[in-house]
Amino acid sequence: MTMSVSLELLARHDKAGPRYTSYPTAPVWSERFGPSEFIDEIRRTNALPHPPPLSLYLHVPFCNTLCYFCGCNMLVTRDQEKMARYAACLEQEIERIAGLLAPRRPVHQLQWGGGTPNYLADELIERLVRTLRRRFVLADDAEVGVEVDPRDSRPGQITWLHGLGFNRLSLGVQDFDPKVQQAVNRIQSESLTRRVIEEARAAGYQSLNVDLMYGLPYQTVDSFSRTIDILIDIAPDRLAVFNYAHVPSLKRHQRLIPVNALPPPAEKLRILKMAIERLTGAGYVYVGMDHFAKPDDELCRAQRAKSLYRNFQGYTTKAGCDLYAFGATAISMVGDCYAQNLKELEAYEAAVLAGSLPTHRGYRLNADDRIRRHVITRLLCDLEITKADVEARFDLLFDDYFATELHHLARDAGEGLIELNAGRIVVTEAGRLLVRNLAMEFDAYLREESADQPLFSRTV
Ligand SMILES: C[S@@+](CC[C@H](N)C(=O)[O-])C[C@H]1O[C@@H](n2cnc3c(N)ncnc32)[C@H](O)[C@@H]1O
Ligand code: SF4
Repeated sequence: MTMSVSLELLARHDKAGPRYTSYPTAPVWSERFGPSEFIDEIRRTNALPHPPPLSLYLHVPFCNTLCYFCGCNMLVTRDQEKMARYAACLEQEIERIAGLLAPRRPVHQLQWGGGTPNYLADELIERLVRTLRRRFVLADDAEVGVEVDPRDSRPGQITWLHGLGFNRLSLGVQDFDPKVQQAVNRIQSESLTRRVIEEARAAGYQSLNVDLMYGLPYQTVDSFSRTIDILIDIAPDRLAVFNYAHVPSLKRHQRLIPVNALPPPAEKLRILKMAIERLTGAGYVYVGMDHFAKPDDELCRAQRAKSLYRNFQGYTTKAGCDLYAFGATAISMVGDCYAQNLKELEAYEAAVLAGSLPTHRGYRLNADDRIRRHVITRLLCDLEITKADVEARFDLLFDDYFATELHHLARDAGEGLIELNAGRIVVTEAGRLLVRNLAMEFDAYLREESADQPLFSRTV
């Protein structure tokens, strides 16, 4: 795929905007939604004649060292007791939620994220796995994934994790260039990364993902091109190439990033363009919003079948599940509600130990939210919207309901980002890179706010 898109056009659209892992996005949620509102929704959905299957997420916030760029909800610590206390609270939270659910609802997806789940002591990992298995029924073909930092992977750990039932692995790499690694305080040799990947292949994991990042200090087209060369040679099933979100007002440690060394916007765009061209040239499909996968990967198959879905972990092939998330900051998505847990470890643990659900804030979608969530999800996953589908699903006339949005989109169509047909709205090749901006046109809450959102990262 040769990107014919103009860098000038991309630069013009570069503004702050959400990544739409939820709609409405988190700033819209409220603390008026707490444990009792969440329990109401859990009970309501669980009592449906056919309650949906489950997707579970476990948040392990701990890391061994600080990557200066990090935007995740994490805590650097070496305190084994602290980690053990947290794991014990996770177990209690799992027990409490499981107690509210019918025992035979199958789990289609189980994901451990962080922070760095594999930094947790082996006995804690094992105990948590046992608790989950005791309280939930995993479907035979369940996806069981874990995020792994190769630097924390003890020899044999990857094989051991596979033995525990993990069948998908996601590895953080970011960039192989020594100067970049030095500047972001993440020294990770190519040989270490290759060792972990070889171990994963030998163990028989079904799917291997690698995370890269562009927009980091000292990155250039040439330097990142060498990282891409290595990745093409390693050939993981999936690749995420994240746009570095620099939000030092929210993540104070990002002030340690040497801002003068950040690639200027034009160079950053050239890096992205190069990465897309090289990866698609090597046979990867650009699924959309940072993600690449081999054509026979489920992600691509789901996209072709229009069954791809988006949640807090990014793209997923398991649509239609209720997502229960455990741990500090974790976000559940159940029925028509979002519910986020307390952020601070101490507050999260205190709530769990007090016998309550640690819900800190949340949101119940109204009728308009549900329509817009569907439209934004289809746009981000299928890169097109079929008007008849929305009309049938929600009993409305698309062109009337979205008259204002279509008026705004006409401008994007004029710039070649989108095609507005009678029955369909289709994102063009250039529009793929700005699909967040296109989704923003359907966001009812952004219109009410000021033009630039300090709460969100830049879209390009
Ligand atoms: C939880 S980490 C992955 C597991 C493990 N902690 C590690 O780093 O190897 C999730 C991923 O988020 C991405 N990430 C972290 N901070 C980011 C930021 N500020 N902007 C964009 N992506 C970021 C990185 O690619 C990272 O691999
Ligand atoms: S990128 Fe991963 S290892 Fe680095 S600080 Fe963030 S969560 Fe921890």
